Amino acid sequence: MATHDDIALDEEFAQTALRESLLRRLFSYTRPYRSLFAINLVLTILATGSSLFGPKLIQVGIDRYISPTLSGASEMSQAAVRGIGWVSALYLGNLLFGWGLSVWQVRSSITIGQGAMNDLRLAVFMHIQALSLNYFDRTHQGRIIARADSDVDSLDRVLTWGAGQALSSLVTLLGVLVLMVSYDWRLSLAVCSVLPPLALLTAWFHRSGREAYRKVRGSQSKLTSAMAENICGVRVVQAFGREEENLGRFESLHTDFIARWVDSARIFHTYMPTVNLLAGLSAVIVLGYGGYQVQQGGMTVGILAAFILYLGMFFGPIQALGDLYNAVLSAAASAERIFALLDTVPQVQDRPDSPALPSVSGLVEFQNVRFRYETTSPEVWVLDGISFGVKPGSMVALVGHTGSGKTSIISLLARFYEPQEGHIRIDGFDIGTHTLKSLHRQIGIVTQDNFLFTGTLMDNLKLGRPEATDEEVRTAAMALGTHSVIDRMPAGYATEVRERGGNLSAGERQLITVTRAMVADPKILILDEATSAVDPQTERVIQRALATVFERRTSFVIAHRLSTVRHADLILVMEKGRIVEQGTHSDLLAAGNVYARLYSEFVRE
Ligand SMILES: Nc1ncnc2c1ncn2[C@@H]1O[C@H](COP(=O)(O)OP(=O)(O)OP(=O)(O)O)[C@@H](O)[C@H]1O
Ligand SMILES: [Mg+2]
Repeated sequence: MATHDDIALDEEFAQTALRESLLRRLFSYTRPYRSLFAINLVLTILATGSSLFGPKLIQVGIDRYISPTLSGASEMSQAAVRGIGWVSALYLGNLLFGWGLSVWQVRSSITIGQGAMNDLRLAVFMHIQALSLNYFDRTHQGRIIARADSDVDSLDRVLTWGAGQALSSLVTLLGVLVLMVSYDWRLSLAVCSVLPPLALLTAWFHRSGREAYRKVRGSQSKLTSAMAENICGVRVVQAFGREEENLGRFESLHTDFIARWVDSARIFHTYMPTVNLLAGLSAVIVLGYGGYQVQQGGMTVGILAAFILYLGMFFGPIQALGDLYNAVLSAAASAERIFALLDTVPQVQDRPDSPALPSVSGLVEFQNVRFRYETTSPEVWVLDGISFGVKPGSMVALVGHTGSGKTSIISLLARFYEPQEGHIRIDGFDIGTHTLKSLHRQIGIVTQDNFLFTGTLMDNLKLGRPEATDEEVRTAAMALGTHSVIDRMPAGYATEVRERGGNLSAGERQLITVTRAMVADPKILILDEATSAVDPQTERVIQRALATVFERRTSFVIAHRLSTVRHADLILVMEKGRIVEQGTHSDLLAAGNVYARLYSEFVRE
């Protein structure tokens, strides 16, 4: 039975019809290299011509200078010796000429192909960065990475070698045919008798070969994702003692992979020798029929030799064209997926005439905001009628149970998503009508999944304002009280951060991200569970520091430890996407409602 995964894989590796528009768009990436591309094609034709010239020279050498001597009609004359010398020299010259052209052609192919690949990869990378979060919500991370990585790679063969190979194969094939027919059309016809079986064989190979290869790719991708999941989740695997089971699963995936691989190899290893057999058969025909003709005086030895040499050049291009056709098909499938990604319009983007948001004081208003994620079921609102106003410089706390919509509110404020209804204004400006960049420059945000990049701690701290000086970073860290923690690390501010900050404790990571937000010097600061992993005492130090540093800035704080939000100027109490209460700590306690209950639960713990 086909599982969900199998179906997804089928879609993933489905063969794409060769649409001209698709290929045209793909090759448009070689446009910047147009003149080099033209030179490349000329070189290809010249190099192919040179290789076709070789057998012709041999024929002339044999017929003019060698055969007369062999037949005993004459001694080898001075003229014949000189003639052979000339032919040999010409042959060598032609060989070197062809070699030079090929080297040049290969170089230019690589320049064009890699240039185009580079442009495409950058375009994909840039586009992924610009896409809105809703895209990442609905698209599997592994697939996005596959687009940028293996899909781009699979275009390599076609972009780098495709045009040259196609042209040289066609020219060779045509040249060989014309030359063979011009020598002896009957013998040419006899040679062509192996073409129908070859065509049938090739058709079979392409059909079953592609199917087998698709299965190999599918099973390989399952293997890779199993491997990746186990590496990322190695701690959980060990903690739950899942090593044996996972190994078993991996082994069975691997057995499956090997089986598919053997299937595909078997097809390939049947095809190649059979093609060679057919090529050999045609050589037998040429030898038999040609030898007879030579005896009868209907053909010269030189022509027979040239014929055999041309025959050797006849099957290569046929195979190459078949191979190339396959490569083009798989490149087309990859190109289609890449272009689908490139054509995804970011949901949140600047309108053409959006002005920049001027420097704001931090007055924030939400007005009847309703919002749901793309994947939320249509009858539910994640945020339902959110309205509140915040004076510049005040501290706002968002409290409420898990899943009540706190993070969603600040995601809208940072315009990672756009609400379906309502308005969000900062200093009276609707954030939807101003540029994203100008908004993000004025908002500092510490999210629940704080992310550090590889590089030094200093690099990470300057992420939001790369032009900040080391001194400014230190001052900020001292004000927050995180300086002493950083100082204790192996190399202080120069400590190298490993992937995702793996060499730091969870609390240390939080301290770095809070400091990073502060270095960026934003007008509005958002802390989403920013200090949940540090010890209560460190948290108090940070809260106190923030209270003074952010006196003139608006800050939004989300915290489950209610002690940290007690001093907020405004507390918004959330329940199921609605604000059910708002006020100060003392107001809300006095009201004796939801907040008072939450608080008493908190205190009791
Ligand atoms: N990216 C997303 N795509 C779809 N649904 C989401 C997404 N993020 C959150 N949700 C859903 O929206 C609702 C509100 O989530 P939100 O993250 O705002 O909660 P929260 O109050 O921040 O919770 P917590 O205290 O656990 O952080 C939840 O029901 C959640 O399942
Ligand atoms: Mg949250």
